Amino acid sequence: MFKKITGLFNRYQSPEDENRLLQSLDRTRLPHHIAIIMDGNGRWAQRRGMPRSLGHRAGVESLRNIVQLCSELGIQVLTCYAFSTENWKRPVEEVNFLMNLLVEYLHKELDELHGKNVRINAIGRLSELPQGAREALENACRTTAGNSGLILNLALNYGGRKEITDAVIKIAQQVKENKIDVKDIDEKLISEHLYTAGLPDPDLLVRPSGDYRISNFLLWQLAYTEFWLSDVMWPDFRRIHLIQAILAYQSRERRFGGLIKK
Ligand code: FPP
Repeated sequence: MFKKITGLFNRYQSPEDENRLLQSLDRTRLPHHIAIIMDGNGRWAQRRGMPRSLGHRAGVESLRNIVQLCSELGIQVLTCYAFSTENWKRPVEEVNFLMNLLVEYLHKELDELHGKNVRINAIGRLSELPQGAREALENACRTTAGNSGLILNLALNYGGRKEITDAVIKIAQQVKENKIDVKDIDEKLISEHLYTAGLPDPDLLVRPSGDYRISNFLLWQLAYTEFWLSDVMWPDFRRIHLIQAILAYQSRERRFGGLIKK
C-alpha cells in the first residue's frame, strides 16, 4: 500500500504539480515541528560513481530547498539530523568533510537565513565538535537569536540515548544537591532537561532513502510523531516530496493512544 501511494506521488514532478499539491495543503493544520533524517547521500553518490562527499554536497542543496519551503509555509521548527554520535565511526576524511561542509553552509547561508527571519539552533553534544564548527555554529545561533520565524534546529553530534543520559545526569545532580525531590520527576521535567527543551515534539518525521529505522534520533520526542518514509535519496529530495509528506500527515488520524469521538 505504502509503495503504491509513493509511486503515485512520484509521478508529480513539475512546478505545476508542485503548485497544485501546495494549493491542496490545509494551511490551518500544518505540522508545527518537522524532523528529517537526511539519509542516502552516500548511496546517491556511489550509484553515480562519485565519491560519497559529493552526495553530502548535493544534500546541502536539498536542505536549502526544504528550509526555504518550511519558512514560506510558516512551519515553527525544522529539525535536521546532520551528524550522529555514531557518525564518528566513519573514515576521518568523511567526518572532516562533513564538518567543513557545515562551516561552509553556515558561512554561505547565514545572511540569507537571517534575512528570512530564520533562527538557527543546534542540539547534540556540541562541545565535542571541532573548534571551527563550534565557532561557526555559535556565530550563526548568536546572529539569528532574535529572529521569530522558522527555527532551523541542526542535530549535530546528536544521539537520542546520549540526550536522555545527559538529562538523567542533570536531574540526578539536582536531586543530590537537594534542589528537587525524586517525587518531582515526571515527563515534563524530563522533557525540560532534553536538548530540545522549550521546543514542541515533532508532529512529522520524514525519512528518505528507503531505510525504516529511527537511528537513535529524538527517541523521547518521537513518541507520538507521524512517520513518512520514502525511497527518494536525500540529494533527490525536493519541495514536492515534503509537500507530499505534509499531505499524508494531514490525512492521518492522530489519537495519541486515545479514541476519536465520532
Ligand atoms: C546520512 O547519509 C547523512 C549524513 C550523515 C550527513 C547529512 C549531511 C548533509 C545532508 C549535509 C548538509 C548538512 C549540513 C548541516 C551542512 P549517509 O551518508 O549515511 O548516506 P548512506 O546511508 O547512503 O551512506
